[in-house]
Amino acid sequence: MDGIITGVDARLVLDSRGVPTIETDCYVDGILAGRAMVPSGASTGAHEAIELRDNDENMWLGKGVEKAVNNVVEIIQENLVGMPVDEQSEIDSILIEIDGTPNRSHLGANAMLGTSLSCLHAGASTHGLPLWKYIGGLAGGLMPTPMMNILNGGAHAESNVDIQEFMVVPHGFDTFPEALRAGVETYHALKSELKHDGRLGGVGDEGGFAPNLPSNEDGLRYMVRAIESAGYSTDEIGIALDVASTEFFSEDTYQFDSQAIDSEELGEIYGRWIDEYPLLSIEDGFAEDDWRGWSHFESINGKKIQTVGDDLFVTQSERLAQGIESNAANAILVKLNQVGTVTETLETMNLAKQHAMNCVISHRSGETEDTTIADFAVGTRAGQIKTGAPCRSDRVAKYNQLLRISEEVSEFRSPF
Ligand code: PGA
Ligand code: ZN
Repeated sequence: MDGIITGVDARLVLDSRGVPTIETDCYVDGILAGRAMVPSGASTGAHEAIELRDNDENMWLGKGVEKAVNNVVEIIQENLVGMPVDEQSEIDSILIEIDGTPNRSHLGANAMLGTSLSCLHAGASTHGLPLWKYIGGLAGGLMPTPMMNILNGGAHAESNVDIQEFMVVPHGFDTFPEALRAGVETYHALKSELKHDGRLGGVGDEGGFAPNLPSNEDGLRYMVRAIESAGYSTDEIGIALDVASTEFFSEDTYQFDSQAIDSEELGEIYGRWIDEYPLLSIEDGFAEDDWRGWSHFESINGKKIQTVGDDLFVTQSERLAQGIESNAANAILVKLNQVGTVTETLETMNLAKQHAMNCVISHRSGETEDTTIADFAVGTRAGQIKTGAPCRSDRVAKYNQLLRISEEVSEFRSPF
């Protein structure tokens, strides 16, 4: 086998919300060797790379991806044919060069990431390696601590809850399968608690329950009830929040629990919660451009809790460098489609690691059956993954892939 790319193909497929996305195939030596699907966000950050959509209102409500598919087949393919498939950084540089824009608006981050990931898969299969091992090389894999979003609000639900994600973090366990079991049992316990209170309805976009609640803090109370009624202690299962606060921020004000407050007041609420609940991590506690709010909170609480920048950093090294400079957060959320290629994602993670920042690998609210991020989390030794509730196959597929990988990788160390 020569390991040379002989073709790249793409097609429209559907994501977990019934919205079109792109699937890309990489051919090596004439044989289909790698395939990947691209996810899509709902609470997308303003600084994310552009997801190219057709904007033809007569089809797919404007969300078609024919342009992105054509970019792969008609532009990207001819530039990659003849390349060794395991030259990932070279492949990604070519994609960046052909695109030629700072925000990926020419090719589309969806066309670029589909290609980048399908080449990554093809490289692994050409070398006869499982994906996590191909990514990790000699460093070996590390099983991530799961953050499971079992109560959905914000832009992922039709409820009155402002906070987008209430996650259980089973961290006091010796192995990944034990941690996963604890998280899953807590999910079922939450279902019983909500049912008992007459609050059980459907689930949100990431498979977590999506009740209306009297206040955001009641979400935390339910999480603690669920952990304890599942038979666990809050020393072994903690809570992580993704507030996704950009969604309720405008003109220097946060609309939280039906009140208009500023970033200091919001930070004081988090501060009280840190004292009263087993809170381990707060993501996007402040809005994507509220650098002052981030830095102020970090200076008071940064030693007590993990603070994760998602919309703030958008997986891009320039934004992360700005955050390091201003001491805005101590961890970064990693979403490959926020930047567009595998290589740039790895560069951003390296910058984070150099500054002792934690990395959390993440799904998007619009997902597919693609499980690349499970292998990516293990191979990069990120230490944490958030990929929704143990409900709906688009979420469960990642946990199931981690269970498979755990047969080969036993190292599991909690960051908390
Ligand atoms: P998104 O949500 O995929 O809708 O952006 C996930 C997140 O905010 O972490
Ligand atoms: Zn987020």
